[in-house]
Amino acid sequence: MADQAQSLIRKIETRDALVGVVGLGYVGLPLAVEFAQAGFSVLGFEVSSKKAEAVNRGHSYVGDVPGEQLASVVQAGRLSATLGYERLGEVDALCVCVPTPLNKTGDPDVSYIISVTESIRMTVRPGQLIVLESTTYPGTTRELLLPALTQGGRLKVATDFFLAFSPERVDPGNQVWTIRNTPKVVGGITPSCTEVARTLYATIVDHVVVVSSTEAAELTKLLENTFRSVNIALANEMAIVCDKLGVDVWEVIAAASSKPFGFMKFTPGPGLGGHCIPVDPHYLSWKMKTLDYKTRLVELASEINAEMPRYVAEKAADLLNQSGKPVKGSGVLVVGAAYKRDTDDTRESPALDIIRLLAEKGAKVTYHDPLVPSLRHEGQDLESVSLDDQQLAAADVVVIVTDHSDVDYDLIRRAARPVLDTRNVLQREAPETAAAAASE
Ligand SMILES: NC(=O)c1ccc[n+]([C@@H]2O[C@H](COP(=O)([O-])OP(=O)(O)OC[C@H]3O[C@@H](n4cnc5c(N)ncnc54)[C@H](O)[C@@H]3O)[C@@H](O)[C@H]2O)c1
Repeated sequence: MADQAQSLIRKIETRDALVGVVGLGYVGLPLAVEFAQAGFSVLGFEVSSKKAEAVNRGHSYVGDVPGEQLASVVQAGRLSATLGYERLGEVDALCVCVPTPLNKTGDPDVSYIISVTESIRMTVRPGQLIVLESTTYPGTTRELLLPALTQGGRLKVATDFFLAFSPERVDPGNQVWTIRNTPKVVGGITPSCTEVARTLYATIVDHVVVVSSTEAAELTKLLENTFRSVNIALANEMAIVCDKLGVDVWEVIAAASSKPFGFMKFTPGPGLGGHCIPVDPHYLSWKMKTLDYKTRLVELASEINAEMPRYVAEKAADLLNQSGKPVKGSGVLVVGAAYKRDTDDTRESPALDIIRLLAEKGAKVTYHDPLVPSLRHEGQDLESVSLDDQQLAAADVVVIVTDHSDVDYDLIRRAARPVLDTRNVLQREAPETAAAAASE
């Protein structure tokens, strides 16, 4: 193994390595705190002055990072954030966690990765490890980062610096599976790149899973999230099938889940949200199109999931119709704006589409979300209303989009308004269901 690899591994093992994290968002901030807690000095690179200042004040803006944990590593001098890239050359290991959204035409937008790569290119030095963590199409690390970082022939990968891909598996709000106990996949450009990256992550996770290439690591992430997208699409389609047949889809799913092998439970919902499941399958489809292959199943799943908010808006209209009311002028109370239970993340949230679709038809839409005080999206500008008798009385239909725990579902039940419960939370959290579950 090259001298640089051995000395970097030693620096990591003794915690003398300075760790950098680019992008202190939902993925980067928890990662930076974890490295700081493992004994490293950590430098975060951000473009948002608000976020950099918040970090330096020890103030957390990410639900999964408790304020006291962040404050304690900042006060101990283990973590600080900086704007700009002047100090990129100082770090020994750099994890890149910038966004990888879709552009307006639904294709991958890797401009954040390209922009960061350009800055790393100008500062990369012997003895550095660079790891891309952003979810992306297979080939990104080798085709985008490697040529940029070796441009001009000044530095050689695996001799001077080390390059790897390691997908993040953060599951916002998940109290059971944390960074530490969730295995982390690592694949380097060469075996020594893999080994240096494996050593780094072994300091913060219990189990590092090594794969043979950066492409295998990139594809692992896409398989994981496409697997969810396809299975959620099947559950969503089953919900429509059951609705048409007059069967309770939740009963069918619960019964199928009693099979101890060959079945995995997925549930239907109002549509996908967040930065991952609605986005990542498109990275795979896009790459395969460049190789003249259409990923039909993957694309069909995305289509089915993308149609769910419209389906929910139509079901809400049907409920109003049953009460003899037109959508126009009717009160619709949407409960939950975040895309996921117990998080404040509204990115790609189906609630945004459902609110817009119903508002376009003239409904008077309000929403309640204990974790999302206000919503600004495509001209919509809403404040969360309190969930009380008055708001419920004004609602001709209640649409439950997110099943947050901190919502008074009993109050909704007692209000006896027509309810479209896209998460089955009223049934799940009904007193008799909870009592039955407790006595099982
Ligand atoms: N959120 C999740 O649950 C999750 C889970 C697994 C993987 N991922 C992937 O991780 C990556 C990051 O996602 P996220 O949810 O943390 O996004 P995010 O938007 O919460 O965070 C990204 C951060 O990067 C910053 N940033 C943007 N450009 C920058 C630049 N040039 N230099 C420095 N900072 C920059 C932004 O200001 C932001 O704070 C994405 O590829 C995403 O697909 C996300």
